[in-house]
Amino acid sequence: MVDNFPNPSLIYDDIWRNLARGSSDPKSEYRWMNLSSSLEHEGSSVRTVVLRETLKDELILRFHSDRRAQKVIQIENCSFVMAHFHDRKRGIQIRMTGNALFASQSVHHEAWSKLSKRQRELYQSNQVPGDPRKKVRACSKEREETDKNFCVIEISVTKIDWLSLDRDAHLRAIFQCDTNSIKAEWITP
Ligand SMILES: Cc1cc2nc3c(=O)[nH]c(=O)nc-3n(C[C@H](O)[C@H](O)[C@H](O)COP(=O)(O)O)c2cc1C
Repeated sequence: MVDNFPNPSLIYDDIWRNLARGSSDPKSEYRWMNLSSSLEHEGSSVRTVVLRETLKDELILRFHSDRRAQKVIQIENCSFVMAHFHDRKRGIQIRMTGNALFASQSVHHEAWSKLSKRQRELYQSNQVPGDPRKKVRACSKEREETDKNFCVIEISVTKIDWLSLDRDAHLRAIFQCDTNSIKAEWITP
């Protein structure tokens, strides 16, 4: 049995270290982020996105999307989102609450410049994500390569809910990040 709580700052550092690995290692448990957003009168939607970048000091998570996707429309209406991660190997769940917004032009251009030709092609279709489709492959494409349908969304994290289910003890901590210093609190799992 664990009698004393572990040091929350070690857990906090571990969270961001794993997220940083997730944004660069396709084999990491943190590579895929479940993102929840919502629209008034329609409720919330959840989908998987690839975690592209993590900035611990700025408390930022970044992912890519088609600008015309439902999630972007939802975020434009209500910026409050939640990012969910499940580390199955270690029995850890992380829920990060935050505000989502378009990344700056410089971040956008840098991300676009790093995409492969194939990745860029995903953003060239004239067909809008979610629209009905009659053929497997999109047929109408932009004549010239354009990044107008591509966007980088960044989540500014305000709160982290960390849960660890372990044989010895179940632990749950809340990290409030919307103040100057990070405030950690243990709560009942
Ligand atoms: C493994 C996996 C990774 C995905 N990565 C992304 C991603 O990085 N960005 C994205 O917009 N959609 C990604 N998707 C697709 C989304 O889950 C979702 O189906 C799509 O973006 C439309 O969602 P929306 O209509 O809620 O906007 C991914 C799906 C899977 C299965």
